[in-house]
Amino acid sequence: MQRPIRAHEIRSRFLNYFAARDHAVVPSSSLVPANDPTLLFTNAGMVQFKDTFLGRDPRPYKRAVTVQRCLRAGGKHNDLDNVGFTERHHTLFEMLGNFSFGDYFKPDAIRWGWEFLTEDLGIAADRLVVSVFSGEGESAPADDEAYELWTAYVPKDRIYRFPAKENFWAMGPTGPCGPCSEIHIFHGDKAPPDAGVAGRGPAYEDTRYTELWNLVFMQYEKFDDGRLVPLPKPSIDTGAGLERLASVLEGVGSNYRTSLLTPLIDLAKRLAGAPAHDLGAGEAPFRVIADHARATAFLIADGVFPDRDTRPYVLRRIMRRAIRFGEKVGLENLFFHEVCKKVVEEFGEAYPNLVERAATIDEVVRGEEESFRRTLKRGLRLFEGAVTELPAGETAFPLGVAAELYDTYGLPIDLTGILSREKGLTLDEEAVKQEVQARQAAGAAAANLGGGDKAIDNLYFRFKERFAGQASFTGYAELSGRGNVLALAVNGVEQTAAKEGDEVEFITDSTPFYGESGGQVGDTGIAEGDGLRVEISDTLKPTGDLHVHRGKVTRGTLEVGRLVTLTVDGARRAAIRRNHSATHLLHHALRAVLGTHVAQKGSLVAPDRLRFDFSHPRPITPSSACRSSASSTR
Ligand code: SER
Repeated sequence: MQRPIRAHEIRSRFLNYFAARDHAVVPSSSLVPANDPTLLFTNAGMVQFKDTFLGRDPRPYKRAVTVQRCLRAGGKHNDLDNVGFTERHHTLFEMLGNFSFGDYFKPDAIRWGWEFLTEDLGIAADRLVVSVFSGEGESAPADDEAYELWTAYVPKDRIYRFPAKENFWAMGPTGPCGPCSEIHIFHGDKAPPDAGVAGRGPAYEDTRYTELWNLVFMQYEKFDDGRLVPLPKPSIDTGAGLERLASVLEGVGSNYRTSLLTPLIDLAKRLAGAPAHDLGAGEAPFRVIADHARATAFLIADGVFPDRDTRPYVLRRIMRRAIRFGEKVGLENLFFHEVCKKVVEEFGEAYPNLVERAATIDEVVRGEEESFRRTLKRGLRLFEGAVTELPAGETAFPLGVAAELYDTYGLPIDLTGILSREKGLTLDEEAVKQEVQARQAAGAAAANLGGGDKAIDNLYFRFKERFAGQASFTGYAELSGRGNVLALAVNGVEQTAAKEGDEVEFITDSTPFYGESGGQVGDTGIAEGDGLRVEISDTLKPTGDLHVHRGKVTRGTLEVGRLVTLTVDGARRAAIRRNHSATHLLHHALRAVLGTHVAQKGSLVAPDRLRFDFSHPRPITPSSACRSSASSTR
């Protein structure tokens, strides 16, 4: 009998298969997208190639293959609550992808996708079904071409036609996009031939199917106004989840039973003194711990540390959720760093930056667990007290206490939700968020904090709640553009208008202004309209997505709903860009001269200077630099 293919082997098989077909093997990029302020985390293999598809970031190759670490947690597609409770939801996962930048198109993408699965990996062809785009509107016709191509491999009664919801892929509201074809596996022996039957097939939440591979035929660029403009050169972007392929090849029926995750689950069980065999529904806490330890170790290795907002807050929530589930299964002492260490052992070969950052991962995880356990102890006392005091027959946990647990004890609202459900109580998490905001606003007003930090933070939080996803950033393509004012604040307090002389903060539905992030300072410039001028002295991105312009009204009145022309100080932006490129050159040079262990710890990119923080175990002297340089060129 043929030896089964193990999960960790699939990566190299995939890379080799496409390398043999002239694809450049490109390393996985960071989970924190470089130069993409519109995205919280790298959530697909194509993210590092976004601008290449659009023709703005030419590469020395036309075909690429990657195994990309991806994270889907936080933001619009937030599956966090499901993770651990289904067979295939994850925060962190690995995506295998092959890419063509204006080179090959549908025929080769389909042929290679099919052949890799059925010939190289040996998956039975009659267990597979495929889908193509059925068309929507005038600008996006049905993909008959893909349909015809598939008929060479798959009987017609297993080729499904689905609408845009399933079979049109777009990176976001704007950017490269196109119809796609998905390859699904049927978990029985042979897939049913019912592609012509309405309401049947893999698009209908039918758990007998699992999507294995998405082949995106990048054909258009989508613009703010919904227009689809054909790309100069049609391209290919494919994505297959490693965990799902592993589940099929190892024949285990669950991503969590693959050799990718079982070592982590087994360790967590050993630490908790739990039985080694499958605990059925009782597996969930261990699955949560395993999944979240992967996300934690990978995120810290990519320079994200747990904290109060945006990316750091997503990490904090993930870590705290895992620690809380650990508590539930009796892990009373610090344990999470042990599981993260196991992640480094298991994944370090494929992702060497985990090994380089092992000590940091350990230190950060221990620190966070210690502080969270202190918080949790105090918070849990308050929680238990509130439960005991509930009037008989009350089935909802009190919003006020949940808000206090969040505000004072740092207990994430979703965790209070979990605790409540464990007690058979309900918790309206949205209402808690509103309560938190109301309290913070009231607190700020009472203390007359005006522009104080807390009021401001809270203001951003409220903007985000109302406007997330409604604002777009156009600053890669243009330095000047128009936008409607969505909201504004004067001295940290939300208003509907700001008059001459007011210090103002405002957001618009579209802006070319880059917001400070990743150490790169925000843009400055002006906003103008008839009789109106606002000098913008800074742009922030406090919640990771909305671009908040900060400045002073020097003429006229700025009002919510008003259309303004926003113009970035172009010379300053160009200087910032040069310094940004210089940090990459410096990083590269340091790694070449001192060694590849040199890791970026932080940076500041401003128009007049840059600062680059990095780790190196010894002081650098001119001679050590020369010595290392000589040895590295041998
Ligand atoms: N970008 C597509 C996806 O994420 C294919 O890689 O599914």
